[in-house]
Amino acid sequence: MKRSLSILVAVVMLLSVVLMGCTLPSGGGPATGGGELIGVAMPTKSLQRWNQDGENMQKLLEKAGYTVDLQYAEDSVDTQLTQIENMITKGAKVLVIASIDGESLGGVLEEAAAEGIKVIAYDRLIKGTPHVDYYATFDNYKVGVIQGQYIIDTLKLAEGEKGPFTMEVFGGSPDDNNAYYFNGGAMDTLKPYIDSGVLVIKSGQTDMEQIAISGWKSEGSQARMDNLLTAFYSDENIDVVLSPNDSLAQGIVASLKAAGYGTASKPYPILTGQDCDITNVKHMIAGEQSMSVFKDTRTLAEKVVGMVEAIMKGTEPEINDTETYDNGKKVVPSYLCDPVFADVNNYKELLIDTGYYEEAQLK
Ligand code: BGC
Repeated sequence: MKRSLSILVAVVMLLSVVLMGCTLPSGGGPATGGGELIGVAMPTKSLQRWNQDGENMQKLLEKAGYTVDLQYAEDSVDTQLTQIENMITKGAKVLVIASIDGESLGGVLEEAAAEGIKVIAYDRLIKGTPHVDYYATFDNYKVGVIQGQYIIDTLKLAEGEKGPFTMEVFGGSPDDNNAYYFNGGAMDTLKPYIDSGVLVIKSGQTDMEQIAISGWKSEGSQARMDNLLTAFYSDENIDVVLSPNDSLAQGIVASLKAAGYGTASKPYPILTGQDCDITNVKHMIAGEQSMSVFKDTRTLAEKVVGMVEAIMKGTEPEINDTETYDNGKKVVPSYLCDPVFADVNNYKELLIDTGYYEEAQLK
């Protein structure tokens, strides 16, 4: 009796030790992480998508048994540098970084490399340093192609519609490598119609130096749109605005609204976007923005956590692109997720049915 009791106590003790050390990941198998520290540096809390990215990463990494140091830098390069330095000091094994200025991390990543810490560039490429091991993002060029193709389809340009249609082009933040890919994809797609005069950019402004909006700020795009409307569209409506993302589209909608757009004689122009931010989905439902590009941050976070786990196990992370992303020092092995077209007709299927948002959030 005494013996069976002590066996029972031993079994219970053993079980609790096993359970304490083992959190179950979503797949149901045992967690791989042994509590090691993973640093996650995000650019800002002020844009909805980065909050989702950060939360998803933290949730999945913790589920896999890692300790997470998640930091947001409020778009300050110096703050991000200090946060990364702290992660190195605290003994992070892998750094996942969505940079603010892709060119400014060389020094701190040299420190990371000296400590044997692996670095994954998250969504935005880190440039000018060999010390970035992997890159996970969406196919940024394709984002622009989807936007350009939408304009072509909506205006029936491939069917021979001649317009001419007036258009203006906005660019993303000049320190973000992605901005050039979005612009390249869209402008390459639209080029034949710009060259033939079917699409007329009345301001003539197409160079990134002229059209880029620093820090992806809505106030910046609003101010530029105000200027464009006053200077070039006082006696003619604008038909198309190519905006690379949703934060810029928000500023553009505000400017158009203030200028009296949204009536029968002044209908909203075709306006593109990217991210499916809640504000912009509401704009789409209200007919103020035409489309967005959905980049499911859950997919990206899953891919990056998979990369972290492979690195920690000493195996090779999954890669599907070894050519596109040259950071000036090396071509960074990348995984590109697929961006998806979104508009008022399919947002429910993409965003509500998959649990990305709840219907009430879009009211
Ligand atoms: C991201 C976009 C985002 C933009 C502004 C880009 O690097 O790829 O999804 O809209 O930054 O935060």
